[in-house]
Amino acid sequence: MAADGSKRKGRPSLRHFLEMKRDGRPIVAMTAYDVQFARLVEEAGVDLILVGDSLGQVVLGYDSTIPVTLDEMIHHARAVRRGAPDTFVVLDMPFLTYQVSPEEALRNAGRALKEAGVHAVKIEGGGERMCEVVSRLVTAGIPVMGHVGLTPQSVHALGGYRVQGRTDEGAKRLMVEARALEEAGVFGIVLELLPAELARSISESLTVPTVGIGAGPGCDGQVLVIYDALGLNKGFSPKFLKCFADLRTAALDGLEAYAEEVRAGSYPASEHSFSGPEA
Ligand code: KIV
Repeated sequence: MAADGSKRKGRPSLRHFLEMKRDGRPIVAMTAYDVQFARLVEEAGVDLILVGDSLGQVVLGYDSTIPVTLDEMIHHARAVRRGAPDTFVVLDMPFLTYQVSPEEALRNAGRALKEAGVHAVKIEGGGERMCEVVSRLVTAGIPVMGHVGLTPQSVHALGGYRVQGRTDEGAKRLMVEARALEEAGVFGIVLELLPAELARSISESLTVPTVGIGAGPGCDGQVLVIYDALGLNKGFSPKFLKCFADLRTAALDGLEAYAEEVRAGSYPASEHSFSGPEA
């Protein structure tokens, strides 16, 4: 919905996201991985779709995002683009597709734009090397979203999925990284699992918008993983998550009703059956 309560009109652009921040209008972002959910997300008027590498966990059943390949991301992002032709779509670059060198990052991000038709890519981390990568991509005309805080591709180095920036030193480092990413040319930054006060002060110190997940209300927008937000991810209930629907219960009820009717012989009934021969 726009500020006046209506759904947004037309596909937002990079300029639009900056204007939203300037005007204090929250950016609504959501992940999607297939055509059906992408259609729903677009119909709901979401501003930005992230084809997250959370794909690995919520769709492909991996233990982490680390095994996800660029081919898998492109395959799913193509479906999302078909389902949401009027929404800004960002592809999450998977582990080791951008860390080795800026040149390799450019080749891989270029594939995302050429083969999946997405409008931007996201990369994790805000150190010096990542800023070089951002600069290389942006110089080549590829819009880049940053991601700091809990960066799931570094889960082993970070010692698990835990809130970042809780020490003075950690908070300072995240602020420095976010500013360096802005300087390098990102159009926005995902802040994941940060104390709310820190996320607010990072957001206030930047010109580009921040999009938070588990980072409190002081970010310029919010993003959630769609399976989590719609209650499809059984047993996943971190503090930051709110389930906005219970699709798991609805799906399970539907599947059990289907199984019962098939076993009872009541489905298909005559109204679901064809008669023949054709007249
Ligand atoms: O992969 C993903 O879905 C993400 C979001 C959690 C921001 O990176």
